[in-house]
Amino acid sequence: MKPRDRLRIAMQKSGRLTEPALELLKRCGLTFRQSRDKLFCFGEGEPVDLLLVRDDDIPGLIAQGVCELGIVGRNVLNEFSLTAGPESEPLAELRPLGFGRCRLSIAVPQEFDYREPAQLAGRRIATSYPGLLGAWLRERGVDAGVVTLAGSVEIAPKLGTADAICDLVQSGGTLVANQLREADVLLESEAVLAGPRNLPADERGDLIELLLKRLDGVIQVRESRLLLLQTPRHALDAVTRLLPGGPQPTLLPVAGQPDQLMLQALCAGEVSWRQLEEIKKAGAREMFVLPVEKMLA
Ligand code: PRP
Ligand code: ZN
Repeated sequence: MKPRDRLRIAMQKSGRLTEPALELLKRCGLTFRQSRDKLFCFGEGEPVDLLLVRDDDIPGLIAQGVCELGIVGRNVLNEFSLTAGPESEPLAELRPLGFGRCRLSIAVPQEFDYREPAQLAGRRIATSYPGLLGAWLRERGVDAGVVTLAGSVEIAPKLGTADAICDLVQSGGTLVANQLREADVLLESEAVLAGPRNLPADERGDLIELLLKRLDGVIQVRESRLLLLQTPRHALDAVTRLLPGGPQPTLLPVAGQPDQLMLQALCAGEVSWRQLEEIKKAGAREMFVLPVEKMLA
């Protein structure tokens, strides 16, 4: 295949990951022209195009070299790695992305008094994740029947085609609606950036490195806040002790007020009203909490 000079990223066409994934790419400086079929979107900012596909197809598209990167649930990526043949290109989770959090769990009908995996021996478990479920059962030496279904897994117990299920749980609403109870967690999942384990050795590889750096900055700042305040020198220790976690604050002199300091601190997370009030009590004033938009270390 002739090497392409543009990068392709695959992501879910419509679903829970679509909006946050587009938002994340935008923050990394990637914007796309909407095409009419909405399957292929031409990238405007950088030589990076978007493929909008079914999430289950994303790992396969990367393995085949149709695209270099994909935004997909860890559950889908790991399932592919477990079930793809040995001849398939190995994939890697390049970055966890911090959204689309959910669990792949065993769920059982209310009357099933589940305490440990061994109780699943000889039972039938319906799932769309035969690879992950099979590996989990094998590791625990449990011999159960795996019933593979493409969807609507949660109704299998009611239909009598399975005794338990193994499916994604986010809010838990689907389980409640089907009188099922979460019994065991196989995998904590979230959206990840997936790619080939061996990055392309041409310009696309360089572009991927660049995107990863931007992504790290975006992920780091997403929860960061910049705290600015003024404090008398004598209160500096007390104020500093109350600062939410983060690197050492920066101190600046205040013109015309030798006993005062400007303090600037990057905080790794929200700064609450309560924290601000405590810091103020310690002597600080003129306090600002600012969102951080970009960061380049
Ligand atoms: C997943 C999963 C459950 C539901 C769980 O389906 O298969 O049905 O979400 O979410 P909840 O705990 O918030 O109810 P999804 O919506 O991704 O659709 P799909 O199964 O068709 O991919
Ligand atoms: Zn799906």
